[in-house]
Amino acid sequence: MCILCRMGAHSMKTQVAIIGGGPSGLLLSQLLHVRGIDSVVLERKTKDYVLGRIRAGVLERGMLDLMREAGVADRMEKEGHAHDGTLISYGDEMFRVDFTEHTGHAVMVYGQTEVTRDLYEAREAAGGAIEFNVEDVVINDADSDAPFVSYTVVGQARRIDCDFVAGCDGFHGVSRNTIPDDVRREYEKVYPFGWLGILSETPPVNPELIYANSDRGFALCSMRNENLSRYYIQCSLSDSPNDWSDTAFWNELKRRIPTDQADKLVTGPSIEKSIAPLRSFVTEPMRWGRLFLCGDAAHIVPPTGAKGLNTAASDVHYLYNGLRDFYENNSTAGIDSYSQKALARVWKAERFSWWFSSLLHRYPDQTTFDHRIQVAELEFLRASKAAQKAMAENYVGLPY
Ligand code: APR
Ligand code: PHB
Repeated sequence: MCILCRMGAHSMKTQVAIIGGGPSGLLLSQLLHVRGIDSVVLERKTKDYVLGRIRAGVLERGMLDLMREAGVADRMEKEGHAHDGTLISYGDEMFRVDFTEHTGHAVMVYGQTEVTRDLYEAREAAGGAIEFNVEDVVINDADSDAPFVSYTVVGQARRIDCDFVAGCDGFHGVSRNTIPDDVRREYEKVYPFGWLGILSETPPVNPELIYANSDRGFALCSMRNENLSRYYIQCSLSDSPNDWSDTAFWNELKRRIPTDQADKLVTGPSIEKSIAPLRSFVTEPMRWGRLFLCGDAAHIVPPTGAKGLNTAASDVHYLYNGLRDFYENNSTAGIDSYSQKALARVWKAERFSWWFSSLLHRYPDQTTFDHRIQVAELEFLRASKAAQKAMAENYVGLPY
């Protein structure tokens, strides 16, 4: 029975109505809760559906701090793995970039699914208002001082009156398109390939991630824990997961990573196999009246730098602090600078993700000259501490 049914009402009032029960919506709701600011989360799917989506798993330092501030870091601290560096290979050459040496910071390898699970548990433990299976969500009067969200649940009309609306409903949500076309500007780059990813209950080939550039295309060796590995290979956008048997996947992966790594690769049946397209996308502004966009609702990055969740988190950081400023100091300074602050960091994450993708993938129209430039860039990164420092600063997460 939905929260409003339990209350025998069809409308309610809250301070912040949050559209989307993915990581950005839940993290915002939990942080606001910690500061005594009320919110309601509306999610189109079920909790199990949201938790069933396999996503990346590298957390920046800023995300770790937000999880701690939200009081949901315990399991991450226990089960996550701090990584001080990563490996980059091209052909049989391989070198390491030491994050801690260059930045004093590490990243945390902890699956986005686990982050989302921890946030759901925290919201439920706090009696947080989350409405699942909502439909027909419409954000009304966002350009007024009294916005409201209308929606239906099993055909029943509902309404939430609120001070603010946070659009955390991902790329395919309704929030972004609530901002009028003549206000919204969109920037997009679609990459001519995808990532075929598998999850396998096998020990990772290397304790650290391997980002591989090879004549046959990109590959990535990642993990979730000591016996759960995540591997990706660059594939054609016309491929489907069924085109790739596990054997074909493993054989192709072995051809793309250094021989000594391929020789110790433990293979096994895949428990998940999917293809993700690669896209860079940004919409501006990220605020319209009382509506604020966060995460995938406003921007998409190719997964090459694992910046998707982390950039959603920086949006949440700026919005959460802006709303605190409003409710605790009666100041609009934070919310008035939200879009500018969030976009400034979003574009840096877009640049890094585009640069890392350009460095490591094979493009169909790549010339021999282009390829030599890629190798020269890899050789420079390998030899230059300054170049490694720049990469490390971006990888561990630029300051908020
Ligand atoms: N009404 C309610 N909920 C909706 C609607 C809608 N109209 N449209 C979408 N949603 C829900 C989706 O079902 C999803 O659970 O909004 C949620 C958005 O979650 P995400 O797509 O995970 O986006 P976000 O929370 O911003 O997280 C960004 O997710 O895709 C990864 O790489 C991305 O890691 C990044 C992270
Ligand atoms: C993952 O573990 O799924 C992962 C890690 C790093 C990336 C992308 C995905 O850059």
